[in-house]
Amino acid sequence: MPLLEILTYPDPFLKQTVKAVTTIDDKIQKIIEDMADTMYDAPGVGLAAIQAGINKRIIVFDPEADPEKRGFQVFINPEIVESRGEMVSEKEGCLSVPDFRANVKRSAFVRAEGLDRHGNPLKIETDGLLSVILQHEIDHLNGILFIDRISALKRQLYKKKRKKALKNA
Ligand code: NI
Repeated sequence: MPLLEILTYPDPFLKQTVKAVTTIDDKIQKIIEDMADTMYDAPGVGLAAIQAGINKRIIVFDPEADPEKRGFQVFINPEIVESRGEMVSEKEGCLSVPDFRANVKRSAFVRAEGLDRHGNPLKIETDGLLSVILQHEIDHLNGILFIDRISALKRQLYKKKRKKALKNA
């Protein structure tokens, strides 16, 4: 399975609202497998197709840290339909935002609805880490990075740091 190339900030592709999946065919299954391989290789706990330059509302995720127990989940066209409470997601990071972590204010509980990889309705109600992962990945589908949810000052500092790193690369 080929690994996909992960786009990084400030790639403008990451800033768009991506399109819904209308047909779940073999091509979509292949994208899902490649996304999962890419996520585990990175390694990360979630990946949105847009991060690999694919304009489709697909996310894969796996909060399991133990490689023996891992198994990824797929969410197609996911939407957050209910969110409650507040929590601080500590040192959140993103494969598209290299060398940076920050605390992010998130909802404590979310209910998300969409489709599984076979096109069946999928509903997930969750809190804790999985809730944060879903909020983070669904943000990606709407062109939002976690650095859009931190203070302007912290965001500016990261932008400067990133610019410098890219210049010296
Ligand atoms: Ni991310």
